[in-house]
Amino acid sequence: MNILILSAGTRNKVVQYFKKTLNGEGTVVATDCSELAPAIYDADKHYIVPRMTDDGYLDEIIKICKAEKIDGVLSLIDPELSLLSENEEMFSQVGVKVIGSSYDLCERALDKYEMYKWLKKNGYNTARSYMDKNEFYRDLEAGTISFPVFVKPARGSASIAISKVYDKETVELLFDHDDGLMIQEFMNGQEIGADVYIDMISHEVVSIFTKKKIKMRAGETDKAVSFKDERLFALIEEFVKKSGFNGQIDIDIFDIDGEYYISEVNPRFGGGYPHAYESGADHMKLIINNLKGISNTRNIGNYSEGIYMMKYNEIMIKSF
Ligand SMILES: Nc1ncnc2c1ncn2[C@@H]1O[C@H](COP(=O)(O)OP(=O)(O)O)[C@@H](O)[C@H]1O
Ligand SMILES: [Mg+2]
Repeated sequence: MNILILSAGTRNKVVQYFKKTLNGEGTVVATDCSELAPAIYDADKHYIVPRMTDDGYLDEIIKICKAEKIDGVLSLIDPELSLLSENEEMFSQVGVKVIGSSYDLCERALDKYEMYKWLKKNGYNTARSYMDKNEFYRDLEAGTISFPVFVKPARGSASIAISKVYDKETVELLFDHDDGLMIQEFMNGQEIGADVYIDMISHEVVSIFTKKKIKMRAGETDKAVSFKDERLFALIEEFVKKSGFNGQIDIDIFDIDGEYYISEVNPRFGGGYPHAYESGADHMKLIINNLKGISNTRNIGNYSEGIYMMKYNEIMIKSF
């Protein structure tokens, strides 16, 4: 069972976990467009590839798939998820399964305002959001929303260009300088992360790991603690099934006075996934089973509460 991890970047743990779970039963191949991507050196084999947006990128990846007899491919960065799902057929022709969700779902997950509209339409609690600042001002006057609010790029990631805003002048300033911004109601509550696996054969939710985020740093969860709540598991399962996600996903949720609000979904391994793996939620195993044609049995919340994750920095030294 050979796995190809695209745009591995600094996600060394994801590469290591695949190797550990495969335990010699197959090869882990990783790619990146930079030779300064530490995670590729943890793989059994690595390739430096063109940028994802370059002509001929896909051909290069397909060539690697053939040469390495790859069974399943996944990417660790958002913009590449749509590219993979869009070309699922091309991969399948060379015997490779794309581990991920459909093109439409990848696109919706990329756009926070599209996700907002879908959540609203389907009756889920979520932060009130606006692309039109005048619509926001009208609601401000009407008293249905108040400062502070969050202003962020609707298609952003990694907390880049996110601001907590306390007045109209700042909203104006931000909107003058950037396009594609979204204004969002401030979620004053406990932030939660969920790592979820949807079986790629049965399409059932088979694993959920949830953690309370204690501290965020540079757009990532820096410290977190595992917890369990059956009501949250039920909400996640229902939401994920209605949406139609597949394979590995990561969901951001807020708990505000006991009500859960769905914030966003990343249809890939999130940066905080190591917490789940180390607590017993081995989703690499679930992926490998699916690639072997085996569907996984439901095993939700099979981990202990009160397991803490504390991030720290590592370095890799290399000469070329
Ligand atoms: N409406 C909001 N209310 C409170 N906190 C927010 C809100 N929007 C964003 N944040 C904070 O900023 C972080 C990043 O925002 P998010 O919408 O998840 O974008 P991304 O992770 O794609 O950069 C969140 O994890 C949260 O800590
Ligand atoms: Mg997020």
